[in-house]
Amino acid sequence: MGKKSITATNKQKDKRLARKQEQRRIADAMTHVTTANKLQDLASLCKELLVFRNLDLEVDMYIQKVTELDKKVLQWAIDLTEKNMKTLYETCAWGWNPNRKLEEMTDDAAWYLIAREKNGTLLAFSHFRFDLDFGEPVLYCYEVQVEKGGRRRGLGQRVLSVLEKLAHATHMRCVRLTALTHNPSAAEFFKACGYSIDETSPPKDEAAHYEILSKATVKSTDESAVKV
Ligand SMILES: CC(C)(COP(=O)(O)OP(=O)(O)OC[C@H]1O[C@@H](n2cnc3c(N)ncnc32)[C@H](O)[C@@H]1OP(=O)(O)O)[C@@H](O)C(=O)NCCC(=O)NCCS
Repeated sequence: MGKKSITATNKQKDKRLARKQEQRRIADAMTHVTTANKLQDLASLCKELLVFRNLDLEVDMYIQKVTELDKKVLQWAIDLTEKNMKTLYETCAWGWNPNRKLEEMTDDAAWYLIAREKNGTLLAFSHFRFDLDFGEPVLYCYEVQVEKGGRRRGLGQRVLSVLEKLAHATHMRCVRLTALTHNPSAAEFFKACGYSIDETSPPKDEAAHYEILSKATVKSTDESAVKV
């Protein structure tokens, strides 16, 4: 009897400990997300990647919260998303709902990475957020969009590299994103950039029209990482 009750007490202790560890893990994750969202100068965490030169392309990038973004630039991003994605959305269960997209793209939590040519032409952007997703601190890439004329020159890949650097510097666990399964060029692109099916992706047999992809943050001690 005595032996049994000691085992039961130990089990209870283990459960309490596990619960405390889980609470601490989520609290730490939330601290990282809040700290990242309060940063004023994300560019300083990845400045070496914000200048992109490739063949005839001379592109500079900048990062702003949606609340600071020039209204014309935001409108361009909204228009480009519609141009690139409307048909893809219409041909799956999501459907194209411009108001819902607008709401998503103008949410106060949205950050924008904007890529623009030396002559001022806007070429690519990413809408991303620092967020707690399934209890983990992640950089969620809501959108990566490149103008037709700027494609296949490494710009999309550079945009993702910037997000990955930011994720690392702000202690996010990974860059995570949602990809439509009937967008094969995007699937090839994400695969080429090192993204794979995330553990939070719906099972294939549920025949979902989307999947969750991610790329884990490289763990290393980095001088440029944000101190918490
Ligand atoms: C997907 C997208 C962002 C890729 O941008 P990009 O600047 O053309 O990509 P990159 O030049 O950096 O490509 C890097 C690698 O990805 C792969 N890749 C990119 N586009 C591809 C395509 N259409 N078909 C096959 N592979 C592709 C290639 O391996 C490429 O390397 P390579 O050109 O040396 O062969 C761009 O095509 C786009 O904006 N598409 C419309 C919007 C969209 O689908 N966005 C993603 C979902 S939100």
